[in-house]
This record gives sequence, C-alpha cells and structure tokens, in this order.
Amino acid sequence: DQGSSWDRVPIDAQSINAPLSRAAVFLVVTVNDTPAALAKACDALSSVGDLLKDVGFRDLTAHLSCVVGIGSDLWKRLGIAKRPAELKPFAAIQGAKHNAPATAGDVLFHIRADRADLVFEFERVLLDKLGDAVQVEDEVSGFRYFDARDLLGFVDGTANPDGSDLPAATQVGSEDPAFCGGSYVVVQKYLHDLTAWGQVPVEQQEKIIGRTKLDNVELDDDAWAQKTHKTLATIVDEKGVEHDILRDNMPFGRPGQQEFGTYFIGYSRRLWVTEKMLQRLFIGEPVGKYDRLLDFSTAKTGCTFFVPTRAMLGNLPQLATALAKKA
Ligand code: HEM
Repeated sequence: DQGSSWDRVPIDAQSINAPLSRAAVFLVVTVNDTPAALAKACDALSSVGDLLKDVGFRDLTAHLSCVVGIGSDLWKRLGIAKRPAELKPFAAIQGAKHNAPATAGDVLFHIRADRADLVFEFERVLLDKLGDAVQVEDEVSGFRYFDARDLLGFVDGTANPDGSDLPAATQVGSEDPAFCGGSYVVVQKYLHDLTAWGQVPVEQQEKIIGRTKLDNVELDDDAWAQKTHKTLATIVDEKGVEHDILRDNMPFGRPGQQEFGTYFIGYSRRLWVTEKMLQRLFIGEPVGKYDRLLDFSTAKTGCTFFVPTRAMLGNLPQLATALAKKA
C-alpha cells in the first residue's frame, strides 16, 4: 500500500506527503536581484536532494524531508516559458476587522524531521550553500505540542485528507499536464493573544473552532448564528464536491517574549481552494461573519508558492548553467 511505503521513506525531497513530524523549520527567502545570485540559487535548489542525504543519512529513523516551493515572481525571473496555471502572488485580504497581509518570498523551504537537530543542521548546510545569493525573509522553528495541538489547546490537523484521497487533494493532475504531480502551497505566520483566549470559556472556544477541546469530537454548527472555523474552512463547489487541502501547521513561540504562534501551511492541487478558505475566514460567510479565531490570531505573513516535482527541480542545473553564462 502506497501510504505505508511513503511513511517508511527515510529521506525525501519534495514529498509533500512526508509524515507529520516532531520538528519543522519554515524558511522563506528572496533571491537577490542579479543573474549571478539567480544562478547560484538555482544550483542550490537542485542540490537539495543531495544535501538531504548528507544530513538525513546520519539518522534514517528521523525521516528528514524538505519541500521546496517557488514563488510567482521568481518563476518569472527563471524565464521558464511555461508556468503553473494558477500560480500568482499571495493576494492580501482586507476584512472588516482582520486582514491577511502579503509579504515577500521567492522560495519556501519546509524542512521536517523527528529530530530538531537534523532540521537545524540541514537548514545550516542549505543556507551555507545559498550563501549571499539570498536574503532570509522569515524563519520559524515549529514543534509538535503534545497530541498535535496548537497553542490554543485544540488538536490541529484531524480533518486532513489521507490515504488515496491525499494525492487527489494535493497534486496537480491532468488539468495542467506540464505541472502534473506539483502542488500549490500557501503559508501564513500567525501570532496569538493567549491571555485573551484564556479568558474565553472552553464551551465558547469550542463554538469558535467547531470541535470539542479535550476529546476533539466534531460539532454540528448548522443551527448556530455564526459559522465555526472548521465550517468556514470547508469548501464545497457548485456540484456539491468538497475540496480539501493538506495542512501541516506547527506551533512556535518564545514564552519569555510572550510570543505564541501557529505557522499555517496548506498544500493544495487547486490554489483557488485555499484562497476561497481565506476569503471565508477573513471576509466571512455571510460577509461580516468572519472566523472568530482571528480575534485571537493575527496574520503577520502571507506567501504563495508552487512546489515542482523532484524531476522538475532536478532540471534547474541546466537553467543555472545558462543563467551563469549570462551573468
Ligand atoms: C481545521 C486550527 C488557520 C484551514 C482546523 C482545526 C483546528 C484549526 C484546531 C480543527 C481540527 C482539524 O481538522 O484540523 C487553526 C489555527 C489556525 C488555522 C490555530 C491559525 C491561527 C487556518 C487557515 C486555513 C485553515 C488559514 C485555510 C486557509 C482549515 C481546514 C480545516 C481546519 C481546511 C478542516 C475543516 C474540516 O473539513 O473539518 N484548524 N487553523 N486553517 N482548518 Fe484551521
């Protein structure tokens, strides 16, 4: 069965299906504005698979993996004639009360492992390789919190697609043949007001999320005046088909700085699905009835990337050579 064989793959580049991990780093960089920087970045991106082996082989049981996503502007700069059909920069959203900002990012590295030291070491080696070709725009180290809970105390990730539903929800198919097997990924860094959240009675918190807190049972909110987070994030098209995304959110924070956050990451076959979720969360459904989770969570970043298949990423060296000649 394909699901369990994925689980056993010890080192995996570009596997968005890598199992949920104990540790992760979300690294977003921009590539400097020179042909030499572009060539150097291409070279580093195409060597991610080898770097993973260098670090991951030291403990195969830690399942080190890295997914590379490429942003719309960088795709343009690479000069590849074809582009993924839906790829575009993250569109900022201004709701009545809350907004989702768009921030800079050419490349996302989603690094995961069951050991924080492997994640750290891989990031160190990777940034060494990228050198002065890039600027780090954002860097977040996430950790597994008890039974996969976010810092608001709720189990996060339950309704993710699994098994054979997973590729269908996350990988581009025949609708865009040149990019078959790729995926769109959206990230946002959220900071929570845990003091305010802590003053909300648990029963009310459950009515905001749409699940019970302790035992994680889904609630039916059909009769409620305002939709829950889980219902606003459920997308059903005009034919009645539900469209899922794959989330691998991670908590992060520094209690000494009163910093408590959730790094949201969502992979999808169709970018419009994640965009529609964001519209419903921030604008509301009906308009104005936004996601009350946002009263306690502020979006600080927002970026969209396309994750090419391993083969596509491996073709970047030719591009790097061509770019280096121009430099
Ligand atoms: C469900 C937390 C942001 C999409 C959930 C659940 C929790 C949660 C606790 C219920 C359990 C589960 O099914 O995973 C959070 C937190 C966020 C956040 C703490 C940030 C502060 C987002 C964003 C999106 C999103 C930005 C989409 C753009 C979803 C989806 C579900 C979900 C699709 C499953 C809905 C279902 O089918 O039941 N989230 N979430 N979440 N969330 Fe979020």
